[in-house]
Amino acid sequence: MAEKTPVVDRPTADTATIPHWYSGGELMDVARGDGARIYDGEGSEYLDFLSQLYCVNAGHSNEAIVEAISDQLERIQYVAPSKDNDVRSRYADRLAEVAPDSLSDVFFAVSGSEANESAIQFARAHQDAPKVLTRWRSYHGSTYGAAGLTGDPSTRSVVEQYAATTGVGKFLPPLPFQSPFDADSPEELATQAADHLEFVIRNEGPDSIAAILTEPVAGTSGAYPAPPGYFERVRELCDEYDILLIADEVITGFGRCGEFFGVQTEGLEPDMITFAKGATSAYVPLAGVLASPEIADGLRGEGISTGQTFGGHPLGCAAGIAALDEYEGGLVENVRDLAPYLEDGLRGLEAEHDCIGDVHGRGFLWSVEFADPSTGEPFVDPFVESDADNPVSSVRDHAREQGVLLGSGRPDTQVLLSPPLCIDESDIDEAVEALDRSIATVFG
Ligand SMILES: Cc1ncc(COP(=O)(O)O)c(C=O)c1O
Repeated sequence: MAEKTPVVDRPTADTATIPHWYSGGELMDVARGDGARIYDGEGSEYLDFLSQLYCVNAGHSNEAIVEAISDQLERIQYVAPSKDNDVRSRYADRLAEVAPDSLSDVFFAVSGSEANESAIQFARAHQDAPKVLTRWRSYHGSTYGAAGLTGDPSTRSVVEQYAATTGVGKFLPPLPFQSPFDADSPEELATQAADHLEFVIRNEGPDSIAAILTEPVAGTSGAYPAPPGYFERVRELCDEYDILLIADEVITGFGRCGEFFGVQTEGLEPDMITFAKGATSAYVPLAGVLASPEIADGLRGEGISTGQTFGGHPLGCAAGIAALDEYEGGLVENVRDLAPYLEDGLRGLEAEHDCIGDVHGRGFLWSVEFADPSTGEPFVDPFVESDADNPVSSVRDHAREQGVLLGSGRPDTQVLLSPPLCIDESDIDEAVEALDRSIATVFG
């Protein structure tokens, strides 16, 4: 019989759980949450300025969502996704109502990775073409197909090291800072980045491309909106070359950027939206694909021979309806009201600390980018120098010691902020002040 005592130290003394995204060290223990606050097992309080993983959008312990899940538990706990269910239909109809006019129908999944895999499967079948284009540095999930879509090298190379992922081409993103383009204004950046995309499309062969899949506002790759005019050109290119446009709204959806979906803040009409995370405020795993009538008709007409046991779980749909009520009932408006206050706070830090190279974001999704002021380059490039001590991760560690949880970007040259939508001005002050002190401690 195999020895059951592990040789490598477990991250916490008494658990057999293997954590996700683990690179050694102790795990934070989270015991309970309330609003924008979480508490560890010993009762220490933290301001959760990352909504755990960009997903607890309505805040922790929202009573309406908890009650909706409990009520659903009393009625029926599970219904196969090949059958009809009242709460699932109601949620799909509500989603279609708040989605852009181009989208009318919903195919449910369980995670963001699976939603993206479903969307590209639908796009390939609809277009009868094999390729999909995504941005370098983007993150679209870590299951086999979704990791192939992902442009972030730290995820993709782990999945690709033993077998190639196929059918995905990459293009350069319109990065506003340390950009691969040489533009003097946002308008020039939009033109150069869109021209580059057109070059990639023509070089790959437009007829071979089923879809372009992109976030409307970058998520973990750096919380940057595209420069004005960029998405207008991307839409035109998709129409001109007959390519579907899929918006990955796993992070940007459900109020995060100040409208229900990120495409609505960016003026973009996609052919599909993929969603997950904030749909249920992450209380129950639920994801899906919002599709145009043409794509939905094609799927229903041809029949669908794939699916997932837990797709459109009734508990998730009940949570989704209640979360949607909360978002519509004031939380999205709160993002719109307070986003300028958050931006002002972060721009104040940028003015004060010369180690901050740039600050960018939309709504309640922001990045503070660090760069050596003498070179304009990152202090450490973690994609290249994976073992070097990174001062940016020390900034986050110091903020956590002061009771504020912040996120890391891809690459880890930035601190990401993505608070629950229920925060107020004093929460923003607390987060900005903790970040200020942490930067001062690390960079002097
Ligand atoms: C933009 C984006 N797409 C897809 C995913 C994958 O979602 P999941 O982790 O639910 O599979 C993520 C996860 O962070 C994401 O940020």
